[in-house]
Amino acid sequence: MDERGLHRRTDGLYHSRPLLQHERDVAIEILGVCFGEKYKRAAHIDVGLTFADYQYAPISLIAESRGEYCGFVQAVSAFFHRNTYNIFWLAVMPQFRRMGFGRKLMNDIEQYIITNKFDGSNGSFLLVAEYKPQYYEEQGYAAGLTTYDGFPIMIKHHYVG
Ligand SMILES: CC(C)(COP(=O)(O)OP(=O)(O)OC[C@H]1O[C@@H](n2cnc3c(N)ncnc32)[C@H](O)[C@@H]1OP(=O)(O)O)[C@@H](O)C(=O)NCCC(=O)NCCS
Repeated sequence: MDERGLHRRTDGLYHSRPLLQHERDVAIEILGVCFGEKYKRAAHIDVGLTFADYQYAPISLIAESRGEYCGFVQAVSAFFHRNTYNIFWLAVMPQFRRMGFGRKLMNDIEQYIITNKFDGSNGSFLLVAEYKPQYYEEQGYAAGLTTYDGFPIMIKHHYVG
């Protein structure tokens, strides 16, 4: 991993980095494929916010594999607590699934936030598990509450010292 917490391009198999302005449409397309066309408008807004000149603008990472775009993830301050970040829009294109890229993207956004955004070393990550909760439990998340429509709200703490 590099100094920003991201997986470096080593064998060309997987590489993630912050989304660039000219890649907005690529990210929206990935989210349309992975979440369905009806979410494209929300995706359009959330991806666009990445480039707002605002301290709490969302952080977006895009992943590539062998020269193709393969995944996306976004995180934003949870606002009710300075050092808690919501992770959402985790997406891996169908042809790249079950190769561990989803886990890598989760790890990369967490490390990116720890390295670049946490005020101090400690903080938390929150997500809503629309994919199976066990997937996130294996990555250190624990369920607590549920959303109004029944999805587990999961949290993971990062402590140092
Ligand atoms: C959820 C999602 C991001 C997972 O992406 P992924 O890259 O397939 O994730 P991973 O490869 O890390 O893990 C997926 C499964 O593949 C398995 N896997 C990982 N590497 C593997 C390998 N080399 N060989 C076989 N299986 C493997 C994992 O064990 C995991 O299985 P599990 O779900 O039974 O635990 C992807 O399915 C997606 O985009 N779904 C649609 C959008 C969505 O639901 N997003 C999440 C909202 S909460």
